[in-house]
Amino acid sequence: METKFHNFLLLAISLLATQLPSSSSSSTSTIKKFHFNVEWKNITRLCHSKLLLTVNGKYPGPTIDVNEGDNVHVTVTNKVARNTTIHWHGVRQMRSAWADGPAYITQCPIGAGKAYTYKFSVVDQRGTLWWHAHFSWQRASVYGAFIIHPRTPFPFSLPIYPANVPLIFGEWWNEDVERVENEMMLYGGGPQISDAYTFNGLPGPLYPCSDKDIFIQTVTPGKTYLLRIINAALNDELFFAVANHTLTVVEIDGVYTKPFATTAIMIAPGQTTNVLLTADQLPGPTGIFTMAARPYLTSVFHFNNSTTIAFLKYQTNPTSKHPPIPPYPLPQNLPNLEDTLFAANFLNSLKSLGSKNFPCKVPQRIDKQVITTISLNLQDCPNNQTCRGFQEKRFFASMNNQSFVRPSISILESHYHNQTLGFSPDFPERPPFAFNYTGVDPFAENMSTSFGTRVLQLPYGAKLEIVLQDTNFLNPENHPIHVHGHNFFVVGRGFGNFDAERDPLGYNLVDPPERNTVAVPVGGWAAIRLVMDNPGVWFVHCHLEEHTSWGLAMGFTVESGREASQRLPPPPSDLPPC
Ligand SMILES: *[C@@H]1O[C@H](CO)[C@@H](O)[C@H](O)[C@H]1NC(C)=O
Ligand SMILES: *[C@@H]1O[C@H](CO)[C@@H](O)[C@H](O)[C@H]1NC(C)=O
Ligand SMILES: *[C@@H]1O[C@H](CO)[C@@H](O)[C@H](O)[C@H]1NC(C)=O
Ligand SMILES: *[C@@H]1O[C@H](CO)[C@@H](O)[C@H](O)[C@H]1NC(C)=O
Ligand SMILES: *[C@@H]1O[C@H](CO)[C@@H](O)[C@H](O)[C@H]1NC(C)=O
Ligand SMILES: *[C@@H]1O[C@H](CO)[C@@H](O)[C@H](O)[C@H]1NC(C)=O
Ligand SMILES: *[C@@H]1O[C@H](CO)[C@@H](O)[C@H](O)[C@H]1NC(C)=O
Ligand SMILES: *[C@@H]1O[C@H](CO)[C@@H](O)[C@H](O)[C@H]1NC(C)=O
Ligand SMILES: *[C@@H]1O[C@H](CO)[C@@H](O)[C@H](O)[C@H]1NC(C)=O
Ligand SMILES: *[C@@H]1O[C@H](CO)[C@@H](O)[C@H](O)[C@H]1NC(C)=O
Repeated sequence: METKFHNFLLLAISLLATQLPSSSSSSTSTIKKFHFNVEWKNITRLCHSKLLLTVNGKYPGPTIDVNEGDNVHVTVTNKVARNTTIHWHGVRQMRSAWADGPAYITQCPIGAGKAYTYKFSVVDQRGTLWWHAHFSWQRASVYGAFIIHPRTPFPFSLPIYPANVPLIFGEWWNEDVERVENEMMLYGGGPQISDAYTFNGLPGPLYPCSDKDIFIQTVTPGKTYLLRIINAALNDELFFAVANHTLTVVEIDGVYTKPFATTAIMIAPGQTTNVLLTADQLPGPTGIFTMAARPYLTSVFHFNNSTTIAFLKYQTNPTSKHPPIPPYPLPQNLPNLEDTLFAANFLNSLKSLGSKNFPCKVPQRIDKQVITTISLNLQDCPNNQTCRGFQEKRFFASMNNQSFVRPSISILESHYHNQTLGFSPDFPERPPFAFNYTGVDPFAENMSTSFGTRVLQLPYGAKLEIVLQDTNFLNPENHPIHVHGHNFFVVGRGFGNFDAERDPLGYNLVDPPERNTVAVPVGGWAAIRLVMDNPGVWFVHCHLEEHTSWGLAMGFTVESGREASQRLPPPPSDLPPC
């Protein structure tokens, strides 16, 4: 213990020394500049070569490494004949809504041959976040880690080797993803499922023609590592485990948690999880332990139930030349595909650190409560079309029975000019009528929805509670709901219907987890609280990309406050036009 603490102090000091520019004080800030070229790159996986959309030819894209407090300028140059935008997932974007990135919400897309410089600062945030394209399904390959190094000491006994290699999960399609998306939208069916899950872009040896495409993390026996885990998969929640090792969760979505040991994690698309792993096992002759990820399935519709593996390789004596040979035993701790109990227990174990330096600022009282269903829907097939959804109809999805229709202008620009062009500020604060949301027969009801571009209008500083209620329509499912521009506190979650009388009594208003993406329990609900302290327009959507395409989204506008420091500045001069 003593030694550990001593090491921790030493490391904390050396880390601080290496991370703070020598001349800087907390009042000066540094500008960190990055150049992102969105370009095609010929990439081969599973013996299929294709032109893949990338940033700077890298798959996954480059890691952004900055220090807490930095000003960040990323110039994105679009070198392809398609539109694009980039979103900095989890970055608060305080008073910089223009740099948030979702197409047609905060900006028009960056057209072919054009550039836009995203300018924002990372204040009072630290840890692992990520970035990804926010146009169409481009985030299938356009994504990377966004690491904010803390200016204050890490509040845990520090990893000796802060492995800055993130572990990013993704999905690989042998086909062009734009074609997959277009086909889904044309016929209204589910998307063609991916051909593989990936670790840092590599499917691993359990897939055909993939023996060499294995991510390998080498470790020194006895040392502790910080693994920065990011789920960038398009449509799948994942379980992750490392054979024979326990994981200690210390951070989620860039916010410290009370550390807890677990045999595996569940991570939804959009979420990040930092875990400590100590290389404290006795390796066999190959020195290899498998790391594995496979989906947490709550959908009855087609999913690829396969597993991606990577290797944790102990750097043993130079004599360890044995190549790893199959079979590669899966971690015994890896939960089964439908292990909702594991997912629920894991998520219930997450608590904010809530220390003196990192307090948990959950609002104790609220100004407004919004209750919204999150739902799948079915629409009759138009007479002259072929539809491939359930019962030959078209799939849609909605919140409070509003299926979000993407506008053709930027909502933020319209809002900034005090207009409501292209959207209406009347998102319903309650479901249109109350029914047994999680008790109805999934297939017998009228599952149609309404369409619109409706947002919630909120005053500056409002303290909001949103209850997200899953429904049984078609398929109760675990939905990862992401809120742009704000972190929120998950004060309650449960199965079945939210009970407005009883459930708030069980809220955690002491140390609830703070994050930017909540996995709403399958056939259940989650209550989140957040403060509208950031003027602008903010997208709220399911981070399963197919559900966003079907309309499982809404937005809110936050007015500027009275003080100059509470106002949204004018749009930058290089903001792309529509
Ligand atoms: C990509 O590279 C492979 C292997 O070098 C090659 O066979 C294929 O023609 C290339 N594809 C494209 C679209 O350039
Ligand atoms: C699903 O996973 C398997 C590996 O088990 C893979 O061979 C297959 O191509 C994947 N995709 C589809 C569409 O089935
Ligand atoms: C890992 O754990 C399994 C199950 O407990 C055990 O059979 C195996 O020998 C262990 N592997 C190594 C390399 O220690
Ligand atoms: C995965 O899906 C395939 C094809 O649908 C099925 O044959 C197989 O049993 C499934 N595997 C698991 C572990 O559920
Ligand atoms: C189908 O019918 C709609 C409404 O009558 C029409 O607007 C649309 O162009 C038709 N589409 C095709 C593919 O014929
Ligand atoms: C929008 O309305 C506010 C409040 O009336 C005003 O201060 C602001 O200047 C208006 N903005 C524009 C762009 O007209
Ligand atoms: C909702 O439906 C479920 C399943 O039929 C039933 O168990 C539950 O009691 C119902 N809840 C209410 C409030 O009616
Ligand atoms: C479902 O609702 C739609 C839209 O209101 C309506 O056109 C349709 O007739 C309804 N279907 C049933 C079976 O109630
Ligand atoms: C949703 O809206 C559609 C179209 O107006 C209507 O038919 C349906 O009954 C509504 N469903 C719910 C659950 O409110
Ligand atoms: C790109 O976006 C602009 C603005 O919305 C639109 O006018 C244009 O048609 C889009 N171009 C492509 C290739 O999709």
